[in-house]
Amino acid sequence: MSLVPTGTLVAGAAAGGGAIAAFNIITLEHAEAVIAGAESVGSPVVLQISENAVKYRQGRLLPLAAAAAAAAAEAAVPVGLHLDHVKSPALLRQAAAAGFGSVMIDASHLPYAENLAATRDAAEWAHAHGLWIEAELGEVGGKGGAAPLDAHAPGARTDPEEARAFTAASGVDALAVAIGSVHAMTTRTGAVDHALLARLSAAVDVPLVLHGSSGLPDAELAAAVAGGIAKVNIGTALNVAMTDAIRAHLDAHPGAVDSRTYLSAGRAAMVRAAADLITALGAGRPAVAPAAV
Ligand code: G3H
Ligand code: ZN
Repeated sequence: MSLVPTGTLVAGAAAGGGAIAAFNIITLEHAEAVIAGAESVGSPVVLQISENAVKYRQGRLLPLAAAAAAAAAEAAVPVGLHLDHVKSPALLRQAAAAGFGSVMIDASHLPYAENLAATRDAAEWAHAHGLWIEAELGEVGGKGGAAPLDAHAPGARTDPEEARAFTAASGVDALAVAIGSVHAMTTRTGAVDHALLARLSAAVDVPLVLHGSSGLPDAELAAAVAGGIAKVNIGTALNVAMTDAIRAHLDAHPGAVDSRTYLSAGRAAMVRAAADLITALGAGRPAVAPAAV
């Protein structure tokens, strides 16, 4: 199996009317857990490292990227490696040498023309280096602890006609859309604007990406995939699972000092969370292994 290009996984999922799950990783335990969860349900998966995770790792991309690529190489399912929510051009340009198959340029906080200019520039660079690239139009709120945007605020939802023009003019391979989900929710009480998703799906030729998926219940995830989402980004749900398990372990074992004991509990909880979320994407989720590279 091993490390495969993200674009291959997204295209394979979309061709089958399904979606690939893409999980944000922060530690090696996250990467190990996501791969084990995907293996347990026989599904390809994407590991993604965000610019915020790189900041947490003291600004260094390579150590976690190399660990994730090594874990992917030994996986029993195809695994993609994606650099997520990148605002820094300098970080974006590290992706090719660091083993990533794809990147996301996130200029969605900028006015349309500036978002388009930054995205077009990033797409030219990415394609020149053999990378698949995702961009965002309309702003999925809640990034980096920011308060969620009002769902009716300008820019809080993606406009279908703008999305059509943006993808054509920028040359991106996939588009993250703002359709009601919000980043960093710790309860699964969110909802997707399915009517808007249907209009976007009809208007845009490239695969659509759902962000802030941790806050959506299983039925909303499956409906979003059925409605045209081809990549589902999930981060917070892993951290909720990990932290709850570690807290419970330490409450039950107040004398514990060996970090392997509580990290094992945290990792095991993330394995279950990843497997459950992949399963929640529905019957269309990819199970056939694409060719390894
Ligand atoms: O790009 C990453 C995702 O949008 C993760 O969002 O942490 O709310 O699941 P989440
Ligand atoms: Zn996101």
